[in-house]
Amino acid sequence: MMRQENYYENYDKKEGLHFDSKVVHGGQGCDPITGAVSFPIFQTATFRHRAFGVSTGYDYSRLQNPTRQELERTMAILEEGTEAFAFSSGQAANMSVFGMLKPGDHVILSDDIYGGTFRIAEDIFSALGCEFTFIDLADTDCLKATIRSNTRMVFMETPTNPMMKVADIQKVAQITKENNLIFVVDNTFLTPYFQRPLLLGADIVVHSGTKYLCGHNDVIAGLVIVKSEEHAAHFRLQLKSRGNGLPPFDSWLLLRGIKTLSLRMQKHDENAKIVAEWLRKHPKVKKVYYAGFEDHVGYEISKKQCTGFGGMISFELDSEETAMNLLSGVKMILFAESLGGTETLITYPLTQTHESIPADIREKLGINKSFIRISIGIENAQDIINDLEQALG
Ligand SMILES: Cc1ncc(COP(=O)(O)O)c(C=O)c1O
Repeated sequence: MMRQENYYENYDKKEGLHFDSKVVHGGQGCDPITGAVSFPIFQTATFRHRAFGVSTGYDYSRLQNPTRQELERTMAILEEGTEAFAFSSGQAANMSVFGMLKPGDHVILSDDIYGGTFRIAEDIFSALGCEFTFIDLADTDCLKATIRSNTRMVFMETPTNPMMKVADIQKVAQITKENNLIFVVDNTFLTPYFQRPLLLGADIVVHSGTKYLCGHNDVIAGLVIVKSEEHAAHFRLQLKSRGNGLPPFDSWLLLRGIKTLSLRMQKHDENAKIVAEWLRKHPKVKKVYYAGFEDHVGYEISKKQCTGFGGMISFELDSEETAMNLLSGVKMILFAESLGGTETLITYPLTQTHESIPADIREKLGINKSFIRISIGIENAQDIINDLEQALG
């Protein structure tokens, strides 16, 4: 097909700019035709061909849409990959990652992982003949011992959801390379502002874009970022065939959210440090799980591979009753599923985010009736503490 002039074809990779400038200026940033500072929302299903065999490079929005493309280019720039793909949810992105598997393939995953990812593995891909082993990926000897002849992929969260376990991305990457495995990192918790797994040796990064990337609790989205043409071809086919690309308006909302990613991540990080220290001293709090504590077992690894600890904290209370009082007693803080937005959200993993994990595994991990996860927002830290204090009683 002949190409008509495509004003959206070329974009600037923003080489030489700092990260906090890159988030503001995206791929093309402005509209190359009108100069509109806010990248346009191309709310169209299809694109006109001026003649037979002539295309602008856009044919049908399930395949390509300039607004989604701008988001994808922005994410490829921020994660330092070659190409990115925007999906209708983090789950859809993960489904496409697992779509790389064939019956008989074996995957090793973090033992503490988002419940929805566990569900994709155990309830969907197990039935298709794939096998899964969940281990603590901080233990690289265990990883080496778990690899089998049919192992194809390692899927990691770091820090993990919700126990905040930290694994060494570089060490795992070395092992996956030696064994010719695909290494996937879910970077939802830290975002490329604090951690860039592709630079540390991962092959693929996934995100629930619903969380920090969007940042405002108003979009469900997923992202995959790759660094090889072989993997890019796989995700292009997934988007085209499954038809689960992120719609133009949602892509625009994400682009808008990403512009303030650096500022928001700094504030989440700053607030979380203050709240984690306060929680640790509260008499009704038995244990706090926060990757930013100097005595956290993964602290040195975090210092090596991340530039911050993010806004996620989990903690165990002295009883189920205290947990219930807290969930019902918060006023400014919102008792709701999800994380990564401007508002502080408090979650009960047992019946919300991690309900899909079998009870015995949850119990072993420590996700019990007294266990709470909190996503620290960007409000005033003292207001978050005051609210927790009044609700804990
Ligand atoms: C770490 C992580 N990965 C993936 C997902 C799934 O994303 P979504 O809810 O956007 O489908 C979530 C959702 O909570 C998550 O926390």
